[in-house]
Amino acid sequence: MIQRSETICLVGFMGTGKSTISKLLAEQLGCRRVDSDEEIERRIGCSISAYFAAEGEAAFRKLESEVLAGLLQEYTGGVISTGGGAVLAEYNRALMLANSFVVALKATDSDIIARTSHDATRPLLAGDGKQKALRLLEARRHAYDFAHFSVDTSSLTPEQAAAAIVAELEARQ
Ligand code: S3P
Repeated sequence: MIQRSETICLVGFMGTGKSTISKLLAEQLGCRRVDSDEEIERRIGCSISAYFAAEGEAAFRKLESEVLAGLLQEYTGGVISTGGGAVLAEYNRALMLANSFVVALKATDSDIIARTSHDATRPLLAGDGKQKALRLLEARRHAYDFAHFSVDTSSLTPEQAAAAIVAELEARQ
């Protein structure tokens, strides 16, 4: 096992595999793992969709920033998977870059659409999921480029994607 004290943040568009890959990565690294969306839902006591409907996206983004800042302090040395929009705020990007090794998971538009368009749990894709995903993909085309390292998950299994991240961490030692 590699010796590592650095926190790892996984960022990426919805459907790039952040949750699954973060679990595998934490298993392989023998460290703790937390998901910012799960932590937000635990705090608000309802689903993110319900929170969006009741409070709106701006309130969610504020909460997301607070939760992310807290997790970066609490989960030092762990793996943190973030929501697809956590990268939109400059404040969040700066915080992640300063306090973690940021890994962006990427995938082709068609893979992302196939993985997300029938999922009713994502408020930003409610209704015509495909059209909404395409619009957001366009708007966020470069939103994940700030990361220290990127993995294209399209042609990889989640295990292979996690292994690619471990290999990069080893190479950096
Ligand atoms: C969002 C992505 C979601 C969740 C919320 C907003 C986004 O997380 O945070 O619905 O703006 O891309 P996942 O990327 O885990 O689906």
